[in-house]
Amino acid sequence: MQLLTGQTLSFSADPFAVPHPEACTLRRRGAVLVREGRIAAVGEADTLRAAHPQAKVISYGDDLICAGFIDAHVHYPQTAIIASWGLRLIDWLNTYTFPEEARFADPAHAARIAARYLDLTAAHGTTTMASFCTIHPGSVDALFAEAQARGQCVVAGKTCMDRNAPDDLRDSAQSAYDDSKALLTRWHGTDRLHYAITPRFTPTSTPDQLEALGALWAENPACLMQTHLSEQTDEIAWVRDLHPEARDYLDTYEAHGLLGARGLYGHAIHLEEREIDRLREVGAALIHCPTSNTFIGSGLFRTAALKTRGLGVGLATDTGGGSSFSMLRTMAAAYEIGQLLGTPLHAAQLLWLATQGSARALHLDHEIGNLAPGLAADLVVLDLASSPAIAQRQAEAEDLWEALFPTIMMGDDRAVRATWINGRPTP
Ligand code: GUN
Ligand code: ZN
Repeated sequence: MQLLTGQTLSFSADPFAVPHPEACTLRRRGAVLVREGRIAAVGEADTLRAAHPQAKVISYGDDLICAGFIDAHVHYPQTAIIASWGLRLIDWLNTYTFPEEARFADPAHAARIAARYLDLTAAHGTTTMASFCTIHPGSVDALFAEAQARGQCVVAGKTCMDRNAPDDLRDSAQSAYDDSKALLTRWHGTDRLHYAITPRFTPTSTPDQLEALGALWAENPACLMQTHLSEQTDEIAWVRDLHPEARDYLDTYEAHGLLGARGLYGHAIHLEEREIDRLREVGAALIHCPTSNTFIGSGLFRTAALKTRGLGVGLATDTGGGSSFSMLRTMAAAYEIGQLLGTPLHAAQLLWLATQGSARALHLDHEIGNLAPGLAADLVVLDLASSPAIAQRQAEAEDLWEALFPTIMMGDDRAVRATWINGRPTP
């Protein structure tokens, strides 16, 4: 049993729904009691120390302890092509992404990148992610095996593509169904692993493949489903050409059983009114990928407006379309996009999106995404003065939010003092 002391921050409500002082509990001298991989208690350090004298105390001073970051949309196979210059979505996929994804036919390459990716993300304070893999079932095995060895909660799925992709990156409707079924049977619910049925996006799946994956989801409704939606205007025009019968982009999923509460729709920038209404009606989640949306030049996701309209929103790096592994950098980009739209997000809202918002999107908020008794002890400990530039600004702060905001805006992996996964600090 361990008692981690520091400043602690937990959420009791959504700071988009109620004023942030009501949504957050902040303790200046707080503590988190960890027992057998779980959070056993959160409270005042003095009280918990007195109540649990046998617990080993790990003092983090004035560092901020909060739930580990949850990255709700990534492509771990794109780790090695992050920050590739100059192209927009379709050319970027063809030039950089597909050649790298083809290398995952080699299980040794997949294992190497999976370990590298989980090392990098842990160093940045990310404890859970929802990842696309490649068309190769071995790419899913590699990530799940590595996550399992680390006791980590990970969502992943085999990316399915049976058109508009290179020969060596195409499956078929039947093999996508069969391979996905075998993978979810093997992995879904094993330890802390969760399967997401993963059609890449409409341009790379035939209607037959979308139909087969919709059927698989109906047969396995506890699984998540992840895909892309309305990221770039060229892509939307392509979908319109491919599917003149569809009312809109979302309709191409809806028509094949790929719209539901456990659906995760990445980007979702250029939505039409009907799409917004349907996504809200079914309780689906939109995943905001702000560094990707600026890096690939996709557009401005309307976080505040969509939250006000009642949609679920999670936050994500979209590695490697996104330009950083850091959820701090991702929060900063979400803030900047909010500013461009005239709706600046509060630090409490940014942190909520990176933890609770993503946990809710993944339907894992009973397990992760908050400092609360009973949840997994997946934690990040943030040094709020991790560089001279941040420290000098933080020294002027009058409250925690002002002390935290420079770390959100200027912080990186140097701000991550420790990351705990499943009740243990990562190496
Ligand atoms: N749309 C389809 N595939 C991808 C991908 O790998 N990255 C991004 N950003 N968008 C996509
Ligand atoms: Zn993506």
